[in-house]
Amino acid sequence: MSHLFNTYARADLVLVDGHDAYVTDDAGDDYLDFGAGIGVMNLGYHHPVIQEAVEQQLKGIWHTSNLYESPLQEKVAHLLTQENDQLVFFANSGAEANEAALKLARRYTGKHKIMNFSQAFHGRTYGALSLTPVTAYQEGYGVDQDVVTLPFNQALAIEALDGTFAAVILEVVQGEGGIHVAQKEWLHELVAKANELGVLVIIDEVQSGMGRTGSLYAYQQFGITPDIVTVAKALANGLPVGAMIGRADLGRAFQPGAHGTTFGGNPIVMASAIAVLETLTPEFLATVAHKGELIRHEIEELSANLPQVKMVRGAGLMIGIELNVDVNAVLVKLREKRILALSAQGNTLRLLPVLTMDQATLHAGIITILETIGEF
Ligand SMILES: Cc1ncc(COP(=O)(O)O)c(C=O)c1O
Repeated sequence: MSHLFNTYARADLVLVDGHDAYVTDDAGDDYLDFGAGIGVMNLGYHHPVIQEAVEQQLKGIWHTSNLYESPLQEKVAHLLTQENDQLVFFANSGAEANEAALKLARRYTGKHKIMNFSQAFHGRTYGALSLTPVTAYQEGYGVDQDVVTLPFNQALAIEALDGTFAAVILEVVQGEGGIHVAQKEWLHELVAKANELGVLVIIDEVQSGMGRTGSLYAYQQFGITPDIVTVAKALANGLPVGAMIGRADLGRAFQPGAHGTTFGGNPIVMASAIAVLETLTPEFLATVAHKGELIRHEIEELSANLPQVKMVRGAGLMIGIELNVDVNAVLVKLREKRILALSAQGNTLRLLPVLTMDQATLHAGIITILETIGEF
């Protein structure tokens, strides 16, 4: 009998190790990881630079409270803000990063109302859950009612935006929601109107950030400047972390005591995050963009004759294949063929391959995935 609460539908698989883009089960079999955990292990398993950074820090201090200076947090903040006039708050997860964003936006503006979008996913804590408009996730919890959900990518949202909102929050590439990419013009109009009205724009890059789409942050490909950005998942390549990055002038809403966490910005996690961010060079990001383009075209071309495929969407190495056949059955078959992938809302097969996967392996994996879909 399991002593764990039954909150996850777990596959019958125990993963005990990994190397590069592969995870290894307790029988010693390797699986090609087209999920990177769930968008966490962007740089793969036992990446030498990250391994070394964490091992070095393990020999030093494991924890200091946030009552003391942290040069490691300063370094990660410097790498995250990329010379922009911004400040960072460190948390332990994506949901917590969004909690921080929500609190900052409400304190700064003195308003409470938040606009979010259909198919959004921002996490499971009360504030973040309130921003995640999925009945199955919210039901019975009594979520925050000051949230107004509008359809993603539709003019109605722009029309509905007015000065009573504190903030609008969105993913420029919706992940859990089914890999829906924001339309550039729509996003520009939304951000322009928000700026005009003094409504803060929060971009949730928890899944799309850290190089996943071929730039450090996906929003950078959309020509917008958010007020607040949240990241987590892949920032420390497997160690728990979240970060909220905000315009420096928003900082006046946060004084000592306004927000906090025991573990946020932990030294070991920060050592890993530094190694991750230093690995995500412009050259590395360009290879992700290039591989993403190639395999998306490949999927589009090869699936054109597959009646099981409804639509292909994505950006960089964040790809959704909406299916006419049961995505969960496809995932089971893929596991039998030693490939791990993910699902997303709308019966979508979600591919978030390890970013360091080489082109030939990506190609071979895609062929197997499409063949498998074709078997249904
Ligand atoms: C876009 C987005 N925001 C927030 C979260 C929540 O992150 P966490 O599970 O680390 O709390 C997720 C997790 O999937 C996510 O995809």
